[in-house]
Amino acid sequence: PTGLLADTRGRPLRDLRISVTDRCNFRCNYCMPKEVFDKNYPYLPHGALLRFEEIARLARLFLAHGVRKIRLTGGEPLLRKNLPALVAQLAALRTADGQAPDLTLTTNGSLLARQARALRDAGLNRVTVSLDSLDEAVFRRMNDVDFPVAQVLAGIEAARAAGLSRIKVNMVVQRGINEHEIVPMARHFRGTGATLRFIEYMDVGSTNGWRMEQVLPSAELIGRLRAELPLVPLAPSAAGETAERWGYANAAGQHDPALGEVGLISSVTRAFCHDCNRARLSTEGRLYLCLFATQGYDLRPLLRGGSGDAAIASAIAAIWQARADRYSELRGSLPASGAQGAQSVQGARRVEMSYIGG
Ligand code: GTP
Ligand code: 5AD
Ligand code: SF4
Ligand code: SF4
Repeated sequence: PTGLLADTRGRPLRDLRISVTDRCNFRCNYCMPKEVFDKNYPYLPHGALLRFEEIARLARLFLAHGVRKIRLTGGEPLLRKNLPALVAQLAALRTADGQAPDLTLTTNGSLLARQARALRDAGLNRVTVSLDSLDEAVFRRMNDVDFPVAQVLAGIEAARAAGLSRIKVNMVVQRGINEHEIVPMARHFRGTGATLRFIEYMDVGSTNGWRMEQVLPSAELIGRLRAELPLVPLAPSAAGETAERWGYANAAGQHDPALGEVGLISSVTRAFCHDCNRARLSTEGRLYLCLFATQGYDLRPLLRGGSGDAAIASAIAAIWQARADRYSELRGSLPASGAQGAQSVQGARRVEMSYIGG
């Protein structure tokens, strides 16, 4: 039976996000600040990482439970050696109703120009590239490793040339840091076939020192955009989607598909937990039910302890069926403690996004 798995709030399991490494070659201040992620940071040792066969086995069991979309993340997933081999194993899997899964990847784009063709050939369907600014100085400051804009744009071009369609570009917006890049980014990607998505800066993890004043609410952002570019609201393309869609309009005020669309991901000001269908698998095989979770469920002992498929599948089912997470909806009502406590839940540290995957 397909799609029968539901959590305590009736939410199905549809989207599996797999982190393939906790390392990254960028040090974005909102994700892996240099002061914390220095050479002494305790990254996972090689033996702790799930092997490709282990990842593919879990993915197969998740697909049988109703998953339709698989996203590879990190850290920076393209740092994982031989990633196309994993993509090939995942592309060979099928959903419960016999379809090929929607297989995608979130990357900072730095290594994409080199790998796009091999990833596509292995069966990757699409790609999402993070890019926070077209302004060279701003981008270099944000990635904090002096990485140039041009190389990320070249990665996006290579992805397109390799035949990866429906490319998305993610921009994390921070007030006072890159807000002046909103309109230039929109103009740059309008009509290119790539969908730009603006992400509200989130209080994820426990190291970025998040403050509400640094968030630019999506309502304000869309106002600024519409003052410059004609946009009309679009209907959601799937249930449980993270982004609210806006389409570029023609002179008659109708959405012009040739001009494309933008997305607004408003996790802070408009939580979308009510139909959140996403599960996250960490690099070492822990299953997390929310981006803001403090604890995961370790599946690796099952994998390495000789458990059969049926036992692992029923463990996954039990974990999902007990799920009650809805952090973003509760954020406003949680006790707001001082700088230290603000990013913990009842004293427990939240996992880092670089570890759990975006
Ligand atoms: P597609 O639209 O199918 O490409 O997938 P998606 O909308 O899940 O996109 P993507 O993985 O690119 O997610 C975009 C960003 O939204 C992530 O990088 C996160 O910043 C944020 N995000 C994704 N899922 C969640 C979630 O479950 N909760 C919260 N709070 N934010 C999320
Ligand atoms: N808030 C919002 N988005 C974030 N990302 C990483 N950290 C944060 C944060 N604190 C984004 C990255 C990338 C995706 C994986 O998540 O920029 O686009
Ligand atoms: Fe790396 Fe992406 Fe985090 Fe930036 S946001 S440090 S590119 S994982
Ligand atoms: Fe899903 Fe947690 Fe994000 Fe809400 S905060 S949408 S439950 S991952």
